[in-house]
Amino acid sequence: MHKTIAVGVIGTGGMGTRHAHNLHRLVPGAAVAGTSDVDRDRAARVAAECGGAAVFDDPYQLIEDPTVNAVLIASTDSTHAAFVRACLEAGKPVMCEKPLAETAQDAWHLVQAEQALGRRLVAVGLMRRFDPQHLAVERAVRAGKVGRGLMFKGTHRNAKVPTHLPGRVVITNSAVHDIDSARWLLGQEVTEVFVRGVRTRPHFSGETVDMLLLQLALTDGCLATVEVTSAAGYGYEVCAEVVGETGTVTTAQPADAVVRLNGQSATDVDQIWLDRFRQAYVDELVGWVESVQTGTSFRGASAWDGYVSQVVTDACIEALNTGQPVQVPTPETPALYREDAAPEVVGAD
Ligand code: NAI
Repeated sequence: MHKTIAVGVIGTGGMGTRHAHNLHRLVPGAAVAGTSDVDRDRAARVAAECGGAAVFDDPYQLIEDPTVNAVLIASTDSTHAAFVRACLEAGKPVMCEKPLAETAQDAWHLVQAEQALGRRLVAVGLMRRFDPQHLAVERAVRAGKVGRGLMFKGTHRNAKVPTHLPGRVVITNSAVHDIDSARWLLGQEVTEVFVRGVRTRPHFSGETVDMLLLQLALTDGCLATVEVTSAAGYGYEVCAEVVGETGTVTTAQPADAVVRLNGQSATDVDQIWLDRFRQAYVDELVGWVESVQTGTSFRGASAWDGYVSQVVTDACIEALNTGQPVQVPTPETPALYREDAAPEVVGAD
């Protein structure tokens, strides 16, 4: 019987609230120990909804509090690196929403700090790795059903876009997930990127780039394309395909119904990511809490994956801004993060 993991949640906006509710209601062996948000009322509301958890005015006090075994960070991007560093200093496992940091350099410092500790404490919320549809593709590829994976093709569509949406935000907030899928599903690293982007509506602000096409070259002669459309209009949709030597594997909507009516045949399309990835968000936390309980490596994205994502997204932003292909410097994966390395202890003290 494993001990219950008491999780402190920093940032109780859209994602933090969903994660806190999932921990409280749907993740076995987890409890919400406390919440913290600059909006105290919001933190207090979520704490009350999660069994009367404590409310911390200072997120660093939450991290250090002895009743908190592990920390989930879902605050604004710019706060992530400092909170993750504090968790490493406190020796506590941490699930950090993407991005791990705002710059590749900050993410690299976190990787170095974790390596100095010699154990993996950091998990990053790149949750496609827990999406049943993506996992089905991964299983088929790993089983060699289409021969060696050669190309990843990702489609990522949001229904609506704010009238001001800089291309770099689309890359760091949306495309980052599909870049991670390409690395994960092909098992290769990105070596070069080329990015084109357009503003699809005249009334959007001048800096807005709401439709992007990313082309990636990966190691071992692999390729990837990622289409990100932010004003698709019809709904939220994410699809992934791996083209292999002998066939292709594509995500498919499980357990859906086709309605035929008035001369039409239709299935529903999700409207936002919280619906599309409902199960992935739960399974990600189940996997994380299990890894903390058992002291085994988290099978989702690590600090290294968070760092490499940042390096690739930085290169994509440069490619978008310059209109030129950009080489991606990816150093060799350190032993702590290699799949063939001995399992590292993650566990809470
Ligand atoms: P949000 O704006 O709804 O929530 C952010 C919360 O952080 C707010 O309540 C804000 O008051 C709080 N906050 C800001 N600074 C803080 C500080 N210093 N200390 C404590 N709380 C602070 O944003 P949302 O959509 O919930 O995003 C949160 C994080 O989750 C972001 O990093 C975002 O990139 C990530 N995200 C991940 C998704 C995924 O699918 N994995 C989807 C959407 C967001």
